[in-house]
Amino acid sequence: MKIIRLVETTSTNDEAKRGAKEGAAHLTVWTAESQTSGRGRQGRAWSSPRGENLLFSVLLRIACLPARVPLVALVAGLAVRDAVAKLLPPSRADDVKVKWPNDVLVSGKKIAGILVESSIQGTKVDHIVVGIGVNVLTRSFPDELASIATSVSLEGRGDADRDALLEAIVENLDHDVEHVVHKGLGLIHARLERADYLRGKELDLEGGGRAEGIDEDGRLMVRKPDGILTRVSSGEVRIRTRP
Ligand code: BTN
Repeated sequence: MKIIRLVETTSTNDEAKRGAKEGAAHLTVWTAESQTSGRGRQGRAWSSPRGENLLFSVLLRIACLPARVPLVALVAGLAVRDAVAKLLPPSRADDVKVKWPNDVLVSGKKIAGILVESSIQGTKVDHIVVGIGVNVLTRSFPDELASIATSVSLEGRGDADRDALLEAIVENLDHDVEHVVHKGLGLIHARLERADYLRGKELDLEGGGRAEGIDEDGRLMVRKPDGILTRVSSGEVRIRTRP
């Protein structure tokens, strides 16, 4: 793993995409103390106070089928989950979950987000950029986030070492990702099931439905009120809060 450290950039995903074009190697990492145009999924912004959190992107040079790219997000979510869980007291580790497809939550509050962007050449993937933001040291969130976001510090580890966390996440990702994109989710499926935040929860979907786990292809299984099992392959789902 080679780590390129930046004080400020637009987005570490931009750095990784540029690096990919310039020939950077598999598992090169770009990390920054702050981003001026940090991006989240679904066109949202990702903002983070300078120097408090972990903002980084990993370049993966994996020539897999484009259809396998969504599995990378699941592997990355689990990689972050496991690394964050190790920082918390053992009694809290089970509170760290992956919310399909790739948010990481602690007791229902978001601690990390992941943005996967890929480049396709012909019928194969040329490279994949996995952008990861983990709230590490932030103790005070803006009003609109305060009830839905948390950080490693707020969960009780005020002395968390951002470098060690970054390395643990990249090691976890490297351990599983190539196997999963070539052979499928089998190797990590049981771990994913244990970490699945949505499982058993009623979802805020047209016509309702209850999450019933993640299938071997990485799709969210949803049982509709009429008993039919449907599978959601992309997007985002919310838990139903109203009765
Ligand atoms: C989300 O939850 O919507 C995904 C957030 C991803 C944020 C990270 S921070 C590092 C990398 N650079 C970006 O611009 N985005 C990702």
